[in-house]
Amino acid sequence: MPDLSRRSLLAAGVFASLTVARPALAKPAPIAAPPGPGAPDDEDFWREIQGAFTLDRTMINLNNGGCCPTPRVVHEAYKRYLDQTNEAPPYEMWELLEPGVETVRRNLAEEAGCDPEELAITRNASEGLQIAQLGLDLKPGDEVLTTDQDYPRMLDTWDQRARRDGIVVKKLSFPVPPPSDADRAVQLTALFAGGITDKTRVIHLCHITNLTGQIFPVRAICDLARERGIVTIVDGAHAFAHFPYKLSDLGCDYYGTSLHKWLLAPVGTGFLWMRKDRIEKHWGMQPTNIAKAADIRKFEEIGTHPAAAHDAIAEALVFHQGIGSARKIARLRWLRARWSQALLARVPGSKMLTSADPAQGGAIGTFAIDGVDVTKLVPYLWSKWRIQATPIVHAQFQGVRITPNVYTTTGELDTLVDAVAAYKPG
Ligand SMILES: Cc1ncc(COP(=O)(O)O)c(C=O)c1O
Repeated sequence: MPDLSRRSLLAAGVFASLTVARPALAKPAPIAAPPGPGAPDDEDFWREIQGAFTLDRTMINLNNGGCCPTPRVVHEAYKRYLDQTNEAPPYEMWELLEPGVETVRRNLAEEAGCDPEELAITRNASEGLQIAQLGLDLKPGDEVLTTDQDYPRMLDTWDQRARRDGIVVKKLSFPVPPPSDADRAVQLTALFAGGITDKTRVIHLCHITNLTGQIFPVRAICDLARERGIVTIVDGAHAFAHFPYKLSDLGCDYYGTSLHKWLLAPVGTGFLWMRKDRIEKHWGMQPTNIAKAADIRKFEEIGTHPAAAHDAIAEALVFHQGIGSARKIARLRWLRARWSQALLARVPGSKMLTSADPAQGGAIGTFAIDGVDVTKLVPYLWSKWRIQATPIVHAQFQGVRITPNVYTTTGELDTLVDAVAAYKPG
């Protein structure tokens, strides 16, 4: 009988391309976390969370920046609601399930720190943000100030308004990471301050960017805008349930987020928050009766739609609150520190495009390697190692975005570093 033990196969060189010597890992500096179980390196605690998902562990999914799997309990609730819907949609969906959206609104508003009457449930961040962008009255020559690292769909939306309505869109550039951790908030606020003119009507910015995971000083920028009568739209697609904050502390006028990213709710969920005094004068993308003009629910009038996804948000909130925002972000920051420090130590020419300062980012980390084409490295990670990563190709930089989640194991991140260390370009 042939000897198929791992050792004999190794000796025969069968695993050679998938095996690399892994030096001892420097321990990342501790990250502030709430007391009690669930510290960032409390693997027994995180093992329970990892087991709460039904995943394909033969692949390593480090693209949680796209959309995320839901925990088993959330997925079961979602499937239950779908089955119930199909028994008799007009009754089961419209009469029984649809009113559940009000519980979801109330619970989400409590988590987000806002009045439920200011919160519309949408199908994703794009829908919420486009309602904000397209429903504002703007006239030819009015300026919108944003960055060239904002989300392409949102920039395309402004560009369409420029073509249709004659507005002017100004896109600011900034280095990644911003040069100095210490005065980053000052630099990014100054960036916007420097772009404002007497024609600026809207500032549109990401709370956290999708390219490198840079967190913006939203409050300072919104204060600056408010002093000048400028409306602020914040793209929080990646922020909600990723790191703790309250909407009431941000000082913006509009805020859109996805819930199928960090809240781990079913695909097709998001919300739009809007300051109460803006609702009545804001146009919906899908018009409603005048009687609803001042009701935030007018932005939910999209015709027949499934109730299952938005009702299952309630279960996702319970799961999120069970971990706790502070515990979750501490773990996510610690995971980023762990893989990025190992990568920098082992891969010559590697650098991080995300600041090492935990406060400037969360789970998302983007790295680059001198002379390495990321559009080749990312397919290699998939074909040789079954690792899902995201190539980032921007006019000013290139990188590979790595986004673990609460279910990611430290071993999976160690494998990522092994894989990158073993890569031979060309
Ligand atoms: C910064 C940013 N804004 C908006 C979106 C759009 O989110 P959704 O796909 O939920 O509409 C994304 C999606 O990745 C994003 O990263």
